[in-house]
Amino acid sequence: QNGYENIIVERRGRVGIITLNRPHALNALNAALMTEVVAAATEFDQDHGIGAIVLTGSEKAFAAGADIKEMTSLTYADVLLSDFFSAWDRFAAVRTPTIAAVAGYALGGGCEVAMMCDLLIAAENARFGQPEITLGTIPGIGGTQRLTRAVGKAKAMDLILTGRLMDAAEAERAGLVSRIVPTERLLDEAIETAEKIASMSLPAAYAAKEAIAQAFESTLAQGVTFERRTFHATFALADRAEGMTAFVEKRPPTFEHS
Ligand code: CAA
Repeated sequence: QNGYENIIVERRGRVGIITLNRPHALNALNAALMTEVVAAATEFDQDHGIGAIVLTGSEKAFAAGADIKEMTSLTYADVLLSDFFSAWDRFAAVRTPTIAAVAGYALGGGCEVAMMCDLLIAAENARFGQPEITLGTIPGIGGTQRLTRAVGKAKAMDLILTGRLMDAAEAERAGLVSRIVPTERLLDEAIETAEKIASMSLPAAYAAKEAIAQAFESTLAQGVTFERRTFHATFALADRAEGMTAFVEKRPPTFEHS
């Protein structure tokens, strides 16, 4: 669809699905793939007919990292002047709820992009890691920050300094993963979860997501105040009135996303 070469983009009702599709390179994240993912996610984000976005890969690899072959000959000046990888920030800034559905390898940039998503659903065969140290470099798409916030300093240091991989069970225990499902169930579970989220009020979902994000950007008191004011603001939504009225009238709500 839409002339993409490195991804497959689909829509199912209110759910947008982006599938990383460079199977010969285990979905390594080259510049072309990055540009396409950002474009597709931005397009879904601007379409209020989409209420959740699923990002997935193949059964063997969500993504085995940034494209090492593409990076090998780059100089410091090259990466500095192009602010290499900063385009991924636009994926992280998507307001629509995002779900990473991860099977197989989620390494380096693959793990980092999965961590940009709001929920991370892992297949039993998923393996996570930040092996950049084995290449003489460090994570560059947020890994030192998001992994540390997700799993704490002890495990982040362990993974980033040794480059070892973590299986799905360890990732769930550590708090990186929302849930683990049998590998063959992964996409169905992710899409069902996305449909559930997309059935809610989109403005309320934006508000919830922004408030949770504050937990990583502010003090507790500032975050609680942000949450309270945002909660108050939901009283301006038709969907808030509909949701509460529907409860009182013992019927399902009909959200108009307004
Ligand atoms: N970049 C480019 N190509 C990659 C790749 C990557 N990150 N990962 C795998 N590939 C390619 C391989 O080169 C190979 O291509 P060829 O057939 O042309 O040789 C193909 O994908 C299949 O890979 P393997 O033969 O290696 O498959 P495997 O099953 O034996 O091993 C693996 C799988 C353990 C994931 C191994 O491919 C691997 O270690 N990949 C690299 C992982 C890595 O170091 N990722 C971090 C990248 S750096 C980064 O991400 C920077 C950042 O944070 C910003």
